[in-house]
Amino acid sequence: MDNILTINNLTIKLKQHTLMKNISFSVSEGEVLLLSGANGVGKSTLLKTILKLEMEGKKAEGEIISRSFGNILALNSKEIQQYRASVAYIQQKDDYSEMGNVQVRDIISECGEANYRNSLNYSEVNELIDEWIPRRKDNSRIFDAKSKPANFSGGEQRLLSVLSVVATRSKAELMIIDEPLNNLDFVNARNISNLINKAVRENPQMALVMVSHCRIFPFINKELRLTSESIVDVSECYMCHSCFGEPDDNGFYI
Ligand SMILES: Nc1ncnc2c1ncn2[C@@H]1O[C@H](COP(=O)(O)OP(=O)(O)OP(=O)(O)O)[C@@H](O)[C@H]1O
Ligand SMILES: [Mg+2]
Repeated sequence: MDNILTINNLTIKLKQHTLMKNISFSVSEGEVLLLSGANGVGKSTLLKTILKLEMEGKKAEGEIISRSFGNILALNSKEIQQYRASVAYIQQKDDYSEMGNVQVRDIISECGEANYRNSLNYSEVNELIDEWIPRRKDNSRIFDAKSKPANFSGGEQRLLSVLSVVATRSKAELMIIDEPLNNLDFVNARNISNLINKAVRENPQMALVMVSHCRIFPFINKELRLTSESIVDVSECYMCHSCFGEPDDNGFYI
């Protein structure tokens, strides 16, 4: 299989503490990898290290090899910018609170630049929202292109973060999502499962790495569990525990 990302003997230290030692794994085309593990074990730090996002006191040794960019730990700063821009990444934390008058259109349009090359206007953004998130029963949108994320609830912020990357970057070679379901209610958790599934089905060449503590996703085909000692392939044990009823044959909840 064609590996999009290969990690060889990666050790991550935070100041004096060794967070993970000599871990190795790979993700190939079409793989949807669930990265699981206890709180604080280092999942988010591992994802940030894959993107070469630095943290104070962090040291990473080993190899992180991208199919398109080679060994990430050896790239210069310009190459790192290009590599980061090529990855569709959603971090665990949302923070729109300081964004003042910034609108949903600005956020989605900026995320989409790598794909569309041009900025998106209000009606294009509303079309994109309608394509990826069903309207409420009263036919209203959860938010629209003119909404201001600074005023959003936690769940609305999460929905915007996931939508803005998944809907605009669905052609990316590598997508990395850190806890897509934070703060989401029942309906929106189901919407997000469907939204990610749509991206996976529309781009079968993509590799997706997703951290989540939930097992509602019908489309996972590999699970790696990170512990303080190792990373273990537990794919055989992955079972989708849906509270939304049975998904259809294509993994969508109705
Ligand atoms: N900026 C930072 N500086 C120092 N230590 C940090 C920093 N960020 C995280 N840590 C520490 O690194 C360890 C791993 O954190 P990380 O956020 O990667 O865990 P996680 O597996 O993603 O947990 P969760 O499931 O709660 O999201 C934790 O002990 C945390 O306290
Ligand atoms: Mg985390």
